[in-house]
This record gives sequence, structure tokens and C-alpha cells, in this order.
Amino acid sequence: MKSSMQQLDDIKFYDAHPGTGDLRREVIDGLANSPKMIPPKFFYDRRGSELFDAICETPEYYQTRTEMDILRNCVDDLVDHIGPDCLLVELGSGASKKVRLLLEQLRPSSYMAVDISKEFLLSSTQTLASDYPWLDVHAACVDFSHNLTIPHCDTYDHKVTFFPGSSIGNFDPDDAVDLIRRIAQMMDMNGHLLIGVDLKKDISILNAAYNDDAGVTAEFNLNLLKRIRDELDSEIDPDTFEHAAFYNSNRGRIEMHLVSCQAQRIRIDDRFFEFDAGETIHTENSYKYTIDEFAQLAAAAGFEQQRVWTDEASLFSVQLLKTV
Ligand code: AVI
Repeated sequence: MKSSMQQLDDIKFYDAHPGTGDLRREVIDGLANSPKMIPPKFFYDRRGSELFDAICETPEYYQTRTEMDILRNCVDDLVDHIGPDCLLVELGSGASKKVRLLLEQLRPSSYMAVDISKEFLLSSTQTLASDYPWLDVHAACVDFSHNLTIPHCDTYDHKVTFFPGSSIGNFDPDDAVDLIRRIAQMMDMNGHLLIGVDLKKDISILNAAYNDDAGVTAEFNLNLLKRIRDELDSEIDPDTFEHAAFYNSNRGRIEMHLVSCQAQRIRIDDRFFEFDAGETIHTENSYKYTIDEFAQLAAAAGFEQQRVWTDEASLFSVQLLKTV
């Protein structure tokens, strides 16, 4: 990672923030694509991260509270497998809430939070560092979908990667295998991956989770267009688009789209993009797996399932994977 370390109060900070150039390039490429798409990583500006946190509090979005319950129940067992004094790297650390369920018992010697949303990463890790004064806290602003060179890792033999929230579901299966393989390499093919994986279930539960009554998920999806309007030289009216989310059974995934309510043309820089009424921008996939399907995916990336914990209703799983 090309970034130098800055000591900021209680944390060490490494900045490889992708910047506006990546947003412009990937949005233009995505809108030139047929069908139109924009990668979900661009949801997470400061407002998007706040909205994601609000989604996690909605009654319909079962993932977060279920995963937290599983983590609370499995932490002792987990400590027996992992032991103390590891470097704990969290990918997509967001508000760094879930890791708090592990820290007291697991007692890692260092924690490295990795996230694409810089301001959010800084404020969450600074709060964490003041709440856990014994912990050596690092923060790296990195787009880990492109770059998994995490600073500071080399100095540790005992590494554990924590990848909660079923963020792995936001990658197409081939990309998911590729990412997990890169995680294995980052850990020198020797370490544990503790990963949250959302499970296949009744479709009505899935559809409700991405269409909450309060409209928070809709606002999260539409915030992507507000971000493009505000950060890029563009002419685009977010009010002319609507949120859509549905489970695609053939592909085993929730799809999120932004639907154009009218025929229109939007501009970014000197590029124009035409929309028919009803045409969509595909903004996110969220794949759901059975435990066996995910074991196969992990195996293709060089990991085996060592332990799998689920809730009583088998909505969600937390899986401890070990390199083979
Ligand atoms: C971050 N990720 C796992 C969430 C998901 O469920 O795919 C993002 C999200 N999109 C809509 N609601 C939540």
C-alpha cells in the first residue's frame, strides 16, 4: 500500500483512500455498461455509512442483530480456537461495533481496522482506542476490493482476519473466491478467517430486509446518486429515480437497483447517459449461501470450515475458516 503512517492521537493511520478519480472513472464505466451498474463500494461516503448503520437498526434487517447474538454466544469457543495476542484485521470495519464483542475475551495485541470510508473509520477507531486503552489500534483507509496490501501485517506471525456482516455476499462468487484467496495470501497462508455469511431462507424475509417500511434502505440506495451529484461535475436529479430490491432465486442473491422514473439523459463531465423510463442502474448484489455452498467457495480459495455457528432460526452464520 502506497501510504505513510500518521500517528493521530491514540491510533496509527494509513491513508490509501481511492479519491474522487476512482469514483468518476468507475461510475462512467458502469453507466456506459449495458445493463448500467455502479459498484456498491461507492455507497459508503459519510452519509452512506450513517445510513447503513441505520439500516442495521431496522426491524426488517435481521443480519446485524443476529450476527451479534451469534458472536456473543460463540466468543468463548472462538478464543479456544484462536488464542490470545493475534493481530486482528477487520475488513469493512464501519463503526467497529461487532469487534467490541470479541476484544475483552480474545485479547488481540493489535487491531487493524480497514475501511473505505475515511472520516467514519477515523472517528470509530479513535473512540475504540479510548475505550480499550490496552489495545494497539491501527486504521487503514483502503479499497480492499482492489488492494489487500495491509500495512503492519508483516510484523505479526499470528493473524486473524475478521470479515463480518456478510459483506462477502456483495461480491460475485468468482470475485469472492479471489478476495478470500488474497486474504489467505495477506495472512501468509497461515491464519484464521472469521467471516459472517448470510444464509438462504424464506424469500419474504429477504425481500423485507431490503425494503424496510421506514425507507432507510431506499435512502441508502438513492444517496449514491446524491454523492455523484455532489462530488462529480454532473447533472443528475436523484428525485427522478426510485429504489428497487428483490430476491433473484436463480442467482441466489438480492439485487438492488435504482429505477429511472422517466426517460431522461444525465451528464457526468462531458459524458451523457440516456435512460428509458423504467431502466435501472444495478447498484448491489447480496448473495446468500447454504453452509455447504459456502464451504465449497471457501475450499476453492484454500480454506476449510473449522467451526460454523448459527442462530436458532438459521438466518445467519459466523464461520471460522482455516487455511489448508
Ligand atoms: C454491507 N452489506 C453486507 C449489506 C448487504 O446486506 O448486502 C449492504 C446493504 N444493502 C442494503 N442493505 C444493506
